Parts: sequence; structure tokens; C-alpha cells
Amino acid sequence: MDTSVASGLRVDRARLLDRLERLAQHGARADGGVCRLALTDADRAGRDQVVAWMRELGLDVVVDAIGNVRGTRAGREAGPPVMTGSHVDTVATGGRYDGSYGVVAGLEVVAALNDAGVETRRPLCVAFFTGEEGARFAPDMLGSLVYVGGLPLEEALAVRDAGGAVLGDELRRCGYAGDAPVGAPEVHAFVELHVEQGPVLEAEGVTIGAVRNLQGISWQEIAIEGQANHAGTTPMRLRHDAGYAAAAVAHFLRGLTRRLGGDQLATCGVIDLEPNLINVIAQRARLTADLRNTDEDALRRAEAELAAFLEQLARDEGVTVSTRRLARFEPVVFDAGVADTIARVAGELGHSVRDATSGAGHDAQMLARVCPAAMIFVPSIGGISHNPREDTAPEHLAAGADVLLHTLLELAR
Ligand code: GLV
Ligand code: MN
Ligand code: MN
Repeated sequence: MDTSVASGLRVDRARLLDRLERLAQHGARADGGVCRLALTDADRAGRDQVVAWMRELGLDVVVDAIGNVRGTRAGREAGPPVMTGSHVDTVATGGRYDGSYGVVAGLEVVAALNDAGVETRRPLCVAFFTGEEGARFAPDMLGSLVYVGGLPLEEALAVRDAGGAVLGDELRRCGYAGDAPVGAPEVHAFVELHVEQGPVLEAEGVTIGAVRNLQGISWQEIAIEGQANHAGTTPMRLRHDAGYAAAAVAHFLRGLTRRLGGDQLATCGVIDLEPNLINVIAQRARLTADLRNTDEDALRRAEAELAAFLEQLARDEGVTVSTRRLARFEPVVFDAGVADTIARVAGELGHSVRDATSGAGHDAQMLARVCPAAMIFVPSIGGISHNPREDTAPEHLAAGADVLLHTLLELAR
């Protein structure tokens, strides 16, 4: 059967958009966004919905011991599947497409192949991985990291969220502590379709990004212990102010990016103060530093400068500072062959295409450790993501899914 681009085989745009809309109802926020933090009731509802669709499409569904779910469509031959997928969990202020798009588009590819009666040589597998966001349980990409053997299962199951809940308990509570071993089966190739979450494609008027690399990520939590005291009676020179110290770290991070220049990014996304009262010098601060760079040496330099600054700050303000590593991933170069296929297929489909770099972390970066992997990006309106306003034009959502369809067909040939 002719399944080439010229054959006219395409995804069903209306069905793709409808499934995205229905998935967004699980954990829907009043502002139009989505909150499906990993292994909450909302995440469970989203998972259940995707699993129901997998079964409707005739996929063989397997849940592994860290809660990753994969649905497989048999090929003419047995052997390692061509895999696609992403994640269903979101940050607390998430949009409708981060993660969900890649999973739903994978299902739409299967639906299109079922409708057309297409049999592939290799099996096709659509997967979603546990806790990609890292917003509840760190590190990010936790499920795919365990899948590729980068984090022992027992260690991952023992991770706690900020409230002390244990990941393994939450997995059981949600009904996703599966019995399949992690890490099996082998994967022939992995392709993840995702919204860009940045401004580049839109700014250049390009529809498809063939993602060739992804920047390194360094996350740490910084705890500062000072001394609570009266805001009106404590002379400035006698203070040990955890609130001031936290603000100094945030300020330092911005200056660091200016000094290092290039692609260095730094974000202080969390500052919690105790007791957090107007007339009390803060006793305690808990804050986070997210450092990213495409260059591993530069990222190490940024980490070293931050460490030196924290030491100096502790001395100057008379506070104690401790750090805890939450995530550390080196930059990733994706498989050139898979990225070339994506770029060629996009061109054949008549879409504009350019090479792209991912600023966000993705499950594909973990799969890249064990098989040829790359990603497809479509434009994000206004470059906005990790925000309820995250959006992508329907024609771009359909275009990305068509590129996914024909890329997977090529890889499964
Ligand atoms: C994951 O979404 C990340 O890049 O923080
Ligand atoms: Mn994502
Ligand atoms: Mn995300």
C-alpha cells in the first residue's frame, strides 16, 4: 500500500483537536489552563482518559513499575518498536499542549493508520512517561530517566514532594504502579512531537522545527537559615536576614547571565520565606535556582560561580546556606538521521522547516541515551508556555501531527 506523502495520507485534524480539548478538561483551571501535577487526582484522570483511548484504538497497553504507560500497535515483524510520546502531567499553571500534544498526536497517528488499514513493518508504540515536569517530584523527566536506567527504580519511588508525600505511595494510590519491568523493551527509534514553548518559530514564520539539540539543565534548592527578629528594633548591622539573602541570590543570578552572556539562562522560580510577615526579619528562606546552557563547560562555570557567591553571602550576612541538587542533565545532541528525516518529511509535506534547539527538558532527551531520537516542534503563540495562556494555531497542531505520522512511517519501514 502506498503510504507516501504523495498518497495523501494525513491525520484527522478535527479528531486531533477534539481529543486535545477533552484531555484539557481533566485538571482544567478556571483561566483556561490545566493543572495536572504528577500523580494527583487530575493526573490520574488524564492518564485514565489516554489509556481508554489507547484501548479503543486496539493498542496493547502496558504499565511499568514507575507508572510509564505504553500502548503498542503490532507490526508485520516483531522486534523493537518505533516509539513516540511525551507526558500527561503539567506544571500547576500549565497550558493545554505541553506534553499532551505529543501523546494525543501519537494516538491520532495510530487512528489514521487504523482507518487507512496500514500495516507497518516495525511495531509502533505511543508512550507517556511519569512526572516529566518535575514541578511536584524532582527531577524532571523522572519516568523516562528511570526507563533508560539513569535512576534506580527504588530511588525514584522514594522521592518526596514538598509536602512529604512519597512518589511510590502516590503511584499506588492512582493505580499506576504497574507490574511491567522498567527499561524493556528495546526501542528502535524515538520521536517526540511538542510545542516549541519559545518564540523562535513564530518570529520567523516557520511551521516546523527539526530539533537537533537540547540544553543542559541544573536545578538546585537553596536553604537559608537566618535569625527572626523585630523589624523595628534590630539595627541593620545586627541582622541575619534570610529574606535579604534570598533576594540577593535572585539578583546575583540575573547578573550572572549578563556576565557569562551567550546562552546562559538562570531563573529563581521559588522563594518561600518564614515566617513571611511584614514586621519580622525572615528566619528561613527556601529558594530554587534553575541554570541552563547548551554548553556543558559554561554551565559548570555558572554552577561554580553560584556556589562561590553563596559562600560569600553566608559569611557577609551571618546566615547558613545549604544546597540540595534536584536535577542535573548535560546538554544532548539528538540523532542526525532522525532529525534529517523530520526535516525532509516536513519539506515534502510543504511546510517551512528549520533546525531548532530545545530550551526545555523533554522525555526525548532521556530516550536519546538508548536509541536514535529527535523532536518535532510547532510554534507557540507569543512564545508563551508553562502558563495557562499557552496556545498553538490549529493548522500548526495538524501540521506537526502530519510530520509525526510520516516520520514514524519512514522509521517503521
Ligand atoms: C520541563 O518542562 C522543563 O524544561 O522545565
Ligand atoms: Mn513538555
Ligand atoms: Mn513543561
